[in-house]
Amino acid sequence: MIALRPGIDIAYDDVGTGLPIVFIHGFPHNRTLWAPQLGGLMARARCVAPDLRGFGESEIHGPYTMDSYADDVVAVLDSLQIDRAVIAGLSMGGYVAFALWRRYRERVRALILADTRPGADTEETTARRREMIGIARAKGSGAVADMQITGMVGRTTRERYPDIADSVHRMLTMAPVHGVVGALEAMIARPDSTPTLGTIDVPTLIIVGDEDVLTPPAESRAMHEAIEGSRLEILAGAGHVSNVERPAAFNHVTSEFLGVLVYA
Ligand code: MLT
Repeated sequence: MIALRPGIDIAYDDVGTGLPIVFIHGFPHNRTLWAPQLGGLMARARCVAPDLRGFGESEIHGPYTMDSYADDVVAVLDSLQIDRAVIAGLSMGGYVAFALWRRYRERVRALILADTRPGADTEETTARRREMIGIARAKGSGAVADMQITGMVGRTTRERYPDIADSVHRMLTMAPVHGVVGALEAMIARPDSTPTLGTIDVPTLIIVGDEDVLTPPAESRAMHEAIEGSRLEILAGAGHVSNVERPAAFNHVTSEFLGVLVYA
């Protein structure tokens, strides 16, 4: 489905009924990342999953910034007449969730921060992203997917469930180059969200795979300490896309969290 904003179309899925929860994918994913959550949680929540601009079926259209991604997500909420939602973001989707919290906290019922980190890029990360921009432009998204896939899924998944690693790799190869370059530039430019953590006063669930090497568990532990009252769930045998690698475990901790929200 498409939500029309002035000048830009955003594609999204909207399934299930109950408490609205918006799932924001990472880099360079699309909304199909969340298929295991939409399938597993739609009986107990209204699950909305947009494609960020430049990815999936959304328009390939700048500007690409964490703020513009957050604005697009809120435009989807507006078009669905959803006042407040649980905002769940994985990795870059978490960076978008931080921007959304800063800009529209009244729209946030609760947060789920999965395999993400609050800090801005280091010089080393910026240099790696600039290199990736050059590779994306010269060789396309397949080359970016080849660079990313080892960090994207955990060791256990690569060894025991290569079909999952293959399907994640396929998703990465489908990312439009314009969106890939835009997202890399947006991540380079994003602010440090560490000071934001202390302002978060809604129920927050932090999830991370214990084999995540891109946003390691230490990052999640630090976020857990900085966000008062937050819950931390570390999923064994999962890497960076923990929701795809351990879908039942991810859905279980999410479902428990949604249950607790009834009383929060
Ligand atoms: C992601 O999965 O969104 C990326 O790993 C985030 C990043 O590169 O910082």
